[in-house]
Amino acid sequence: MATKRIVVLISGRGSNLQALIDRIAAGELKATIALVISDRACAQGLQWAARAGIQQAIIERANYPSTQLFETALQSAIDRAQPHLVVLAGFMQILSPTLVAHYRGRILNIHPSLLPALPGLNTHQRALDEAHRQHGATVHVVTSQLDGGPHIIQAVLQIASDDNAHTLAARVLQCEHKIYFQAIQWALDGRLHSDGHHVWLDGEQLDAPISAYF
Ligand code: GRF
Repeated sequence: MATKRIVVLISGRGSNLQALIDRIAAGELKATIALVISDRACAQGLQWAARAGIQQAIIERANYPSTQLFETALQSAIDRAQPHLVVLAGFMQILSPTLVAHYRGRILNIHPSLLPALPGLNTHQRALDEAHRQHGATVHVVTSQLDGGPHIIQAVLQIASDDNAHTLAARVLQCEHKIYFQAIQWALDGRLHSDGHHVWLDGEQLDAPISAYF
């Protein structure tokens, strides 16, 4: 059977991209990264793609007169790569309902919090400021709502009394690298399905995400 293809969208550091590259190299993730797209030419993650010999495209919002034309370019590039799954890995753009509908249920994102808690930015500092006892990361199906969409799997960790935003970010990131590939593999194996509103794993609708405790 041909290896399933994914397209990974990034904006920056690209550690989740690198983790996927590593899992594929180790034979733990049976996928081909057909294309990496960055909306920033300076994204560090592009270096990881280049080193791994992965095709890449830079599609920057500033080079298009409208968000619609930017998205048209994005969609064309993704479609040309013919992916089974579109993987957002630190991609800092909100996708329009049109684009999301085009890939309904086939775009995944990872967010560094236990959604629905703490959508948006600075999640680690906010978790500390709000005295949360647990924190983590969530893989979810993408909708056009920021950090919305049905949840698939969460990495859950206890916040330690000596954690600061920096240590917490590092701990969460390590967990991200473990749960993202798992969700991607489920999707590529045909075990995970989504209509954009709900998620089914092995034929069972998930009322709550799968929890992985770290
Ligand atoms: C991660 O924390 C991810 O959860 C969030 O953006 C960050 C991307 O990190 N969506 P990296 O670029 O994969 O290192």
